[in-house]
Amino acid sequence: MKHDLLIIGGGPGGYPAAIRAAQLGLDVACVEKEKPLGGTCVRIGCIPSKALLESSERFLAAQSELQIHGILVDNVRVDVAQMQKRKDGIVKALTGGVDFLFKKNKITRYVGAARFVAPNRVEIEGVEGEIEASNIIIATGSKVAKLNGVEPDGNRIGTSTEALSYKEVPQHLVVIGAGYIGLELGSVWKRLGAKVTVLEYLPRILPGMDAELAATAQKIFVKQGLEFKLGTKVLGARVEGEEAIVEIEGGEAIRCDRVLLAVGRAPNTDGLGTETIDLQTDERGRVKVDPSFATNVPGVYAIGDVIAGPMLAHKATEEGIACVEKIVTGYGHVNYNTIPGIAYTEPEIATVGRTEEQLNEAGIKFRKGVFPFTASGRARCIGHTEGFVKILADAQTDRILGVHIIGPRAGDLIAEAVAAMEFGASSEDLARTCHAHPTLSEALHEAALAVDGRAIHV
Ligand code: NAI
Repeated sequence: MKHDLLIIGGGPGGYPAAIRAAQLGLDVACVEKEKPLGGTCVRIGCIPSKALLESSERFLAAQSELQIHGILVDNVRVDVAQMQKRKDGIVKALTGGVDFLFKKNKITRYVGAARFVAPNRVEIEGVEGEIEASNIIIATGSKVAKLNGVEPDGNRIGTSTEALSYKEVPQHLVVIGAGYIGLELGSVWKRLGAKVTVLEYLPRILPGMDAELAATAQKIFVKQGLEFKLGTKVLGARVEGEEAIVEIEGGEAIRCDRVLLAVGRAPNTDGLGTETIDLQTDERGRVKVDPSFATNVPGVYAIGDVIAGPMLAHKATEEGIACVEKIVTGYGHVNYNTIPGIAYTEPEIATVGRTEEQLNEAGIKFRKGVFPFTASGRARCIGHTEGFVKILADAQTDRILGVHIIGPRAGDLIAEAVAAMEFGASSEDLARTCHAHPTLSEALHEAALAVDGRAIHV
């Protein structure tokens, strides 16, 4: 079989790229080794974790928040099997949705693992004959990063995949890594009743995020009952009977019933036959690309988690679409300054652009406007007043350089900041934009006013 374009990987990088290619008139095929489309994001990542975060938040609310509204609920219990069933249903609906979109756009689908036999040809396990394409995009994503001495057994010691599917609430969950996965899934099981201990190698949580935001988040998580051991080096973890034992440097071993390894992800080029085509990778195994996502092999491109940059579904989507548009039209672009990052904890933490630390390091002078959610009328009505909005604007030009939010619906609020930055807005532009009352978005407005020392409600 021959196609104009073959995309290897049907995740949030690969599948939108296939749809865009079909829209642009290409004969496009996508090969994905798993039967359901959607990749890690839809099957075992973003989507199932958000489903469980929502369910566990509601459990917590029913247990301890509703009384204050005058709503009395007795005997609140968790049915983990039902919670998991709901989550599985959401995943099924969404993977089915991608299938539907493939059919609608007449995209050829191959099921199986692809391996390069030549720069423009692959063989697919279980598919007869070789598949040829004028262009090939590698969108194979990432896999769980390993940690020496910690060997996941798929049961007591597992990764996010297992932690999304526990059949019962752990007694004591030890999470290795205080990043996105550790905090989101640690929060889920804490809310459902587990004791949760988070071990982090660095002296802070959420490395890379604005430090003030991360410090505030940590205080809130501690109040919620998460236990942190920062600056802690994990030496190993092993299973002993019904228990797991986690060894840490200079401290007593921790006994628990579940371990979640969440120390990052690594690019996935397993079994792809990259050596056959002499594909260049960097020191961390990421496929090397130029600004058009072209690799060193003519006709072969790569996007998403398998190349450098933040491992985020929406970054992969942007890259996939830009890559296809560049191949077909000659134009395609991703603005890496405006890729938001969000941790879907409670409160949510959302960020776009540069942090205070990065600006200081680059010697860029900036003005800072902060507005706390305690001063937001809507946040009070919702009953979630923790956190703040912080806007960093260039001291000379007033251009917005970074926006960092911790608070209710921060993940949705950040979209306004992303759009503003995409248009090169100044903090004055946001300050002069009318924001509806009473909404959480007023906090962003007030933070913009605060850049110039003229916030109204603080
Ligand atoms: P991460 O990179 O966010 O965090 C890993 C954490 O583990 C870091 O704090 C790191 O300092 C720590 N760590 C590394 N080695 C360690 C060791 N030996 N002992 C203790 N701690 C150690 O990675 P995470 O949470 O595994 O997520 C993987 C990827 O998936 C990330 O790139 C993230 O962007 C993405 N993701 C995004 C989500 C979102 O957008 N909401 C949700 C979940 C994952």
